[in-house]
Amino acid sequence: MASCFNGGAGWPEPVVRVQAVSDTCGDTIPERYVKPPSERPSSPAASADSDDSGGLKKSIPVVDLSMPDADETCRAACREWGFFQAVNHGVRPELLRRARASWRGFYRQPAEVRERYANSPATYEGYGSRLGTTKGGPLDWGDYYFLHLLPSSLKNHDKWPSLPPTLRETTEEYGEEVLHLARRVMRLLSSGLGLEASRLQEAFGGVGGEGACLRVNFYPRCPQPELTLGVAAHSDPGGMTMLLVDDHVRGLQVRRPADGQWITVDPVPDAFIVNIGDQIQVLSNAVYKSVEHRVTVSAAEDRLSMAFFYNPRSDLPIAPMAELVTADRPALYPEMTFDEYRVFIRQRGLAGKAQLESLHATAKKASGSSVINVPSPGPPAADTSSS
Ligand code: OGA
Ligand code: NI
Repeated sequence: MASCFNGGAGWPEPVVRVQAVSDTCGDTIPERYVKPPSERPSSPAASADSDDSGGLKKSIPVVDLSMPDADETCRAACREWGFFQAVNHGVRPELLRRARASWRGFYRQPAEVRERYANSPATYEGYGSRLGTTKGGPLDWGDYYFLHLLPSSLKNHDKWPSLPPTLRETTEEYGEEVLHLARRVMRLLSSGLGLEASRLQEAFGGVGGEGACLRVNFYPRCPQPELTLGVAAHSDPGGMTMLLVDDHVRGLQVRRPADGQWITVDPVPDAFIVNIGDQIQVLSNAVYKSVEHRVTVSAAEDRLSMAFFYNPRSDLPIAPMAELVTADRPALYPEMTFDEYRVFIRQRGLAGKAQLESLHATAKKASGSSVINVPSPGPPAADTSSS
């Protein structure tokens, strides 16, 4: 078995790097990574990409941000899919390549170098290999590095890898440029709700008051990709995510809102895959959708992805914005800070969209409306993977 370095760092069980498992496991992955049949990439209930889409759009929209109609195309994508790929987004391709190359460089460092940054469940900052903290819970086939960019009080270069030597400077520059892009999308989303362009941003804590962090995921080659996932189905808990992926390796699947099918995203070179997170779904009272997605892995190639998470300031109450709440469309969610929401999620681990849906149920109860649809006796609803 692969050696483990940081079993004492507060995780429920010793942590093993998936990179080490991949190097040593031969043809068979350890049981801990095997997903139940209904969650596997090939499960018939969730088979992706069939030709028979019944006229539904085949994949997430690609939006050229340099076109005059870009704002409306982005908004429509965020209402219908919760996802789009942005091209001509203003972040230099040279910087995208440099950022990916630096982080690949980190994952190529010897294990002793990587382990200097091993993380703990108290903050998740640093090099990690598991997302929830449930003892005995199933594991995903991926390692990650998590770091803070904003607020500046949380940003600490000493917690970022010192090797390769270009990494810190490149990550700093990358973070600044992606932040500009995120703020631009915030403004157009806000206008799309009939509000001042700055309104949504203000709900996040205003310019400079927001949170931003980066998770660089590394998915090693996997000898049995049909049995596991790089990241299990989830929606992003934060505000908005700008994801940069390897141009040539597919892996991200989005659950098409129209019919619940898993759709594989074909990455457009140098594009950002932008998606709405739970906090914008809450603030917009579900005009913009936070949609479930997951990551498949490959036997042939490893894959690196950089997820920039753009979040509200973590201690602000987040609830549907008052301007959007009417008698016809009451608030769908109760108020909660992002800090509170994050604790809730980390305790439960990734569970599709269950977290947001349970908040919705709480809001319904609180408003006294004729409580939650109680399913009639009989088999449970078919859609168990999202509950
Ligand atoms: C995430 C995520 C997708 C990917 O980090 O939240 O969904 O393709 N990543 O790595
Ligand atoms: Ni995600």
